[in-house]
Amino acid sequence: MTDTSLPGGAVNAVTRVGATVRRPLPPRAGYIHDLLTFLAQQGWDGAPRPLGVDEHGRQVLTYLPGHVAWAPGQLAAVISDASLSRVAGLVRQLHDLTAGTHLAGGCEVVCHNDLAPKNTVYRDLGAGMRPVAFIDWDLAGPGERIHDVAHVCWQFVGLGPAVAAPSEAARRIGLIRDAYGLRRDAPLIETVLWWQDRCWRGIEAGARAGDPAARRLRDAGAVDEVRASQQWVCDHREQLT
Ligand SMILES: Nc1ncnc2c1ncn2[C@@H]1O[C@H](COP(=O)(O)OP(=O)(O)O)[C@@H](O)[C@H]1O
Ligand SMILES: [Mg+2]
Repeated sequence: MTDTSLPGGAVNAVTRVGATVRRPLPPRAGYIHDLLTFLAQQGWDGAPRPLGVDEHGRQVLTYLPGHVAWAPGQLAAVISDASLSRVAGLVRQLHDLTAGTHLAGGCEVVCHNDLAPKNTVYRDLGAGMRPVAFIDWDLAGPGERIHDVAHVCWQFVGLGPAVAAPSEAARRIGLIRDAYGLRRDAPLIETVLWWQDRCWRGIEAGARAGDPAARRLRDAGAVDEVRASQQWVCDHREQLT
């Protein structure tokens, strides 16, 4: 069977081989394997199933058919309120399944930590494209519920200078918070700012230490982009809260 390169990744060379996907083995591969095995055992379809390691030392996962929203200019159904609520619902399922397990360590839950349209598979369930699963679990680990919810707000609302109407962004943030079931006074915007800070500093530190993926990201303008987004969120804090 032949390898077909898959588009939409910013870090890893990912290929499809038949009904499987092959990716470079992530750091903490054992933890990610245990997590995906656990989610499969729970009968949760929101993540690929782990199938081990291939003869080239690559991580093997099930290929999830559907549409991955990595490109700009997505269909209305993909960015609709209904899809956004469903993303929040999927995150809630992930958190509720992992709460109190050994995988959550001493934390509230297991967080995906990289929730974004580019890591989400959409399928037409009869009423248009809707999110059905998350991919790219490399950064998953013990965390707090609000961490993933804030990341969803940042990435799925597209918080940053490109937002035309901050009031509309605030409405969409409220939609995510309520669909997840997070309490209304949870410090979501502060957590978005914390994430953005962590993100650009992490890329910069990685690039300075010589990590090739971090260098590629920095050279493609990721640090400047996240910093501009962080500044925008800071400037519109009142309106977004
Ligand atoms: N399990 C999967 N099922 C279907 N497509 C996948 C799967 N894993 C990855 N892909 C495809 O490969 C692309 C890159 O994968 P990803 O794991 O997000 O890599 P990166 O770490 O570089 O972001 C995704 O945008 C998606 O199109
Ligand atoms: Mg990805």
